[in-house]
Amino acid sequence: MSDPSRFLTSLAQAFATMGLYPNTHPSRARTLDAAYEQLLLLQSTDPQPQFSFLEHEVVYGRTTLQDMRDWAPGTRLSGIGVQRLEFTGFVSREDFELFVEDVMQRLALTASSAEARPERPTAIRFGAVGLRGETQQEENEPLQVAGINYTMGEEVSAIKWIHQEVASRGNLHLLEAEATVRSLSVAMHGESRIVIPLLELKEFDQYTTTHSMNVAVLAMALAEYLGLDARDVRTFGVAGLLHDLGKVRIPKEILNKPGKLTDEERQIMQRHPSDGARVLIDSDRQLDLAATVAYEHHIMIDGGGYPNMHFRRDCHAASKLVHVCDVYDALRTKRPYRGAWESPKVLSYLEERAGTEFDASIVRGFIAMMQAWDLRVTRTDAPEEAAWK
Ligand SMILES: [Fe+2]
Ligand SMILES: [Fe+2]
Repeated sequence: MSDPSRFLTSLAQAFATMGLYPNTHPSRARTLDAAYEQLLLLQSTDPQPQFSFLEHEVVYGRTTLQDMRDWAPGTRLSGIGVQRLEFTGFVSREDFELFVEDVMQRLALTASSAEARPERPTAIRFGAVGLRGETQQEENEPLQVAGINYTMGEEVSAIKWIHQEVASRGNLHLLEAEATVRSLSVAMHGESRIVIPLLELKEFDQYTTTHSMNVAVLAMALAEYLGLDARDVRTFGVAGLLHDLGKVRIPKEILNKPGKLTDEERQIMQRHPSDGARVLIDSDRQLDLAATVAYEHHIMIDGGGYPNMHFRRDCHAASKLVHVCDVYDALRTKRPYRGAWESPKVLSYLEERAGTEFDASIVRGFIAMMQAWDLRVTRTDAPEEAAWK
C-alpha cells in the first residue's frame, strides 16, 4: 500500500474509533497518534499532500489511487461536503485532532449544516471541491475575455462533420473527436487560467452541434475542477462531446419542433441514448466510457428518466457529471418553445433536484465551480453557418 493510501486508511480508522469511544478513552489517542504518524510520514516525501474524494475514486494530487477505488469513507466524506483535503504545511498534533473532531461532527450532522469552517488558521484545508481555489481566490479579478479569440469555428465544423459522418455512413472518427477535445482544452487553458468558453446558439438547427461542444467544455472543466488527471479529463470531454450522438438518427422536424412532442415523437426522441451508445460501441473499444455516458445521460438518480430501467441502475460518475452539464447547457440555451434561462436560475434548478434527479455531490461541485469561475464563463455567438463550409 502506498503512503497516501496508508494515511487515508489510518485516518478512517481514527474516525471509526472516535465514533465508538467516549472522549477520554485511550483508544482515541492511540488511533489519532497512528494517523498523525502516517501524515508526518507522508509529508516527509510530499510536504503538501492533496486529496480529492469523488464518489468512487480518491485522487491524490493528480493521480487516482487505484487501491482506494470505491473506498467507502471517501464517499462519506464527499457526501458531507468534504471533497477535498489539503495539508499546506506542518500540522501540529493538536490541530490534527481538532480537524478529525470537526470532520466527525460533520459526519454526525446533516450535509447542510456542514458548511461552517474551522476558524483557527491551520495547515489543514478541507471542504468542497476546488480548494485548489486558494490560488483561484487570489485570482478573483475579472478575466479579460474580450481580447481572446473564441470563434471556435474549427471545432464547431469538426463536430458538425463528425455528426454528418455518423448520420450518413455510421462511421465515427475517434481521432477527430479527440483532436476536437484537445483543441477545446487548449482554448480553456489558453490564458494560463481556465476559462469556460460556451457557445451561444444562433440557429435552432445548430443546437446539437453547439450543445455538444458546450457539454464537452463543461464536462472537462468540472472533471478538472474535481481534481481528475489530464487523461481522465479528456476522456470525460470526449464523452461529453458525443453524448447526444444518437440524435443524428432523429428526423429534423422532431428535433427542432417548436412545441410539445406527441407520444410517438417522444418515443423517437428517447431512443437517442441507446442509438448513440450502439454507434459508439461499434466504433472503437476506446469509446466504452463515451458509450456508457451516451446510454446513461438521461437516467436520474432516483431511477426516473430514460431509457426505462427494469432495475435501478447506479450510473457511472461520468454519466452523472455529463447529465448535470447537459441540463445546465440545455436550460441556458434559447429553444423554440422557451427563452434561455439565466445562470442563477439554472443553478437553483439543479440544486433543487440534487439527490433526486442529479447526483448531489456533483451538483455541489458544479455550482461551486460556476461560482468560483463565474467571470470566466464566456458565451460567444456560434459561428455563422457560412463559416462551416
Ligand atoms: Fe441527450
Ligand atoms: Fe444533451
